[in-house]
Amino acid sequence: MYKILFKKTLAQSIHLMRIEAPQIARKRKAGQFVILRLHDRGERVPLTMTTSDAKEGSISIVFQEVGKTSMELAKMKQGDSILDVAGPLGNPTHIEKIGTVVCIGGGLGVAPVYPIAVAMKEAGNKVISIIGARTKDLLIMEKEMRAASDELLVSTDDGSYGFFGFVSQVLQGLIDKKTPINQVVTIGPVPMMKAVCEVARPHNISTMVSLNPIMVDGTGMCGVCRVTIGGQMKFGCVDGPEFDGFKVDFAELSKRLRSYIEQEKISLDKFKCTQCAAM
Ligand SMILES: Cc1cc2nc3c(=O)[nH]c(=O)nc-3n(C[C@H](O)[C@H](O)[C@H](O)COP(=O)(O)OP(=O)(O)OC[C@H]3O[C@@H](n4cnc5c(N)ncnc54)[C@H](O)[C@@H]3O)c2cc1C
Ligand code: FES
Repeated sequence: MYKILFKKTLAQSIHLMRIEAPQIARKRKAGQFVILRLHDRGERVPLTMTTSDAKEGSISIVFQEVGKTSMELAKMKQGDSILDVAGPLGNPTHIEKIGTVVCIGGGLGVAPVYPIAVAMKEAGNKVISIIGARTKDLLIMEKEMRAASDELLVSTDDGSYGFFGFVSQVLQGLIDKKTPINQVVTIGPVPMMKAVCEVARPHNISTMVSLNPIMVDGTGMCGVCRVTIGGQMKFGCVDGPEFDGFKVDFAELSKRLRSYIEQEKISLDKFKCTQCAAM
C-alpha cells in the first residue's frame, strides 16, 4: 500500500499528490512515470512523476480529473492509501548541455514539463519556458516554472493573463526575434504538441514531445500503447514516452486515444451513480 502524504488542489479539477514510495523515489529521473491502481477492482492509470524526494521517500504527481479513475483518485485524502504504484516506468528524458532549451507546457502538460526544465537547467542550459492554459484560473505551477527557468513566458487562450493566444504563437514570437534555440521540449494536449512542431519544423529546431497513448501494463507486453514514429511502430511505454515530434503520426494518436470513449462514458456514469447512492 502507498500512503498519500499530502494533497493540494492547484486549479479546478487539477490536483497535486505526494505519495510515499521510497524505492521509486530513489530511482526516478525526469520524464518517467508510474502506473497506479487504486484498489483491487481499479484500472491501471499512467501518471508522470513531477518531482521525487529520496530523503522523504516520496514521489509527486499532478493529475486532472477526466474520467472515472482520476475522479476516484481526486476523492482520496491525505492518509488514505493506494493499492499499487508501479515504477519508475519509461525512459528518462535525454538531458545534455546543448545551449538554449525552450520548455513548453500546455494545460496539465506544465506539470510533466517542470522536471525536464529543472534537469535541463541543472545540466547548464539556458532554459526559456512557455506555459499556457485556456484561462488564468487553469494555469498551474507558474511559481515553480519561473524558479526553474531563466525566462518564463505565459499565455492564455482567452487573454485573461499573459499573451493572448497559444503557446505555439509565443514560440513563433521567439523565433521571429531571432532567439537562438537549440532544443524544444513540449508536453500538453495532442493538437498543442502538433502545433508547436509545425512552428519549429521550418527552422529545423529539434523538438521532443512526450506522448500519452493509452497504456495498460507499461512494460512492453500488451501493445496497446502503439504509436507510429517515422513510419515505424513503437511502444509509448518502453520506447518513449518521449519522441522526435517531427516524426510522430499525431492523427493516429488522437484516433487511438478515442478508441474506448463509449466504455469510458459508461464507466464514469456508473461511478457517478454509486457516488449519488452513497450520499
Ligand atoms: C506516460 C503517460 C503519462 C501521463 N501523465 C499524466 C499526468 O501526469 N497527469 C494526468 O492528469 N494525466 C496523465 N496521463 C493521462 C492519464 O493517464 C489519463 O488521464 C487517465 O488514465 C484517465 O483515466 P480516467 O479513468 O480518469 O479516464 P477515462 O474516462 O478512462 O479516460 C479519459 C481519457 O483519458 C485517456 N486514458 C484513459 N485510460 C488511459 C490509460 N490507461 N492510459 C493513458 N491514457 C488513458 C484517454 O484519452 C481517455 O479518452 C498520462 C498518460 C500517459 C500515457
Ligand atoms: S502499455 Fe502495454 S505495451 Fe505499452
